[in-house]
Amino acid sequence: MAYLPVALKVEEIRQDSPNLKTYVFKRNLRAKPGQFVMVWVPGVDEVPMSIGWQDEEEVHIGIADAGDCTHLLHEKIKVGDKLGIRGPYGSVFNLPEGAKKIVVIGGGYGTPPMLSLAQDATAKGIEVIAIIGARSKDYIIYEDWFKKLGCEVKLSTDDGSAGHKGYSTEVLEKVLEEEKIDGIYTCGPELMMVNVAKQGVAKDIYTEVSLERYMKCGFGACGQCCMDNTGIRICKEGPVLEAKYALEHPEFGKYTRGPEGIIEEM
Ligand SMILES: Cc1cc2nc3c(=O)[nH]c(=O)nc-3n(C[C@H](O)[C@H](O)[C@H](O)COP(=O)(O)OP(=O)(O)OC[C@H]3O[C@@H](n4cnc5c(N)ncnc54)[C@H](O)[C@@H]3O)c2cc1C
Ligand code: FES
Repeated sequence: MAYLPVALKVEEIRQDSPNLKTYVFKRNLRAKPGQFVMVWVPGVDEVPMSIGWQDEEEVHIGIADAGDCTHLLHEKIKVGDKLGIRGPYGSVFNLPEGAKKIVVIGGGYGTPPMLSLAQDATAKGIEVIAIIGARSKDYIIYEDWFKKLGCEVKLSTDDGSAGHKGYSTEVLEKVLEEEKIDGIYTCGPELMMVNVAKQGVAKDIYTEVSLERYMKCGFGACGQCCMDNTGIRICKEGPVLEAKYALEHPEFGKYTRGPEGIIEEM
């Protein structure tokens, strides 16, 4: 585990949706699916980002324009510039012994870690159904990358411009009615993940969720990302948690804490 950032040159930048760019670095970080890195924009901030596509030669990090730091990154960082990358950190997705078919559900910028998991699962011969949700067709990311891995892709959009019109959790409901599924994995808006977690638990299917909390150190030292009431650190014991366990936390799907520790309702 690295505590200091390494300066990595941006080799390629892809505009994958109106508000998400994927930054490609020539480095195998040897991260496991579900892990994240801290991305340092010198003079601005350091923010947690999931590992997306990763192979022997490169790593892809999909970054949405969500606020001050990420907006500046979108505006100012060009191919050839360097970013500080620290990590990888955090817990990983677990595939049940003998799993034959799993479902991954990514919402918005929660999709990159789902792609990383799909890479790992398909390499192990596990079939993957990938449900990708977004507000509209233009915001769907990585459809081709999932297809390249041989995943069955199902889309859902709020406005019906691609795939199912409505929630990706409705697509999951249908999949679980029709197929025998050995594992469910999700990353995206927390209310979506609560729904996925409840569906998985109700059907007694092994389910994992990847949570997001405000992070400072990223490696378990500062206590910023602790969850009520267990005190687990989302940067260390998370971000991936078993759904059953995530549901025991009163704040899951209800509230989070900002940088000063003040509660922010969801
Ligand atoms: C484990 C983890 C993995 C993530 N993976 C991705 C990813 O792959 N792609 C992606 O686009 N985004 C990802 N995020 C979210 C990303 O970290 C925030 O969008 C980013 O930090 C926003 O920073 P900002 O300064 O641009 O926005 P701000 O204007 O500061 O805030 C916008 C939103 O981002 C949250 N945020 C700001 N700083 C942090 C921080 N240090 N830690 C956590 N949340 C923060 C704020 O609470 C607010 O909700 C991930 C977050 C976590 C915790
Ligand atoms: S961010 Fe410091 S303990 Fe998690």
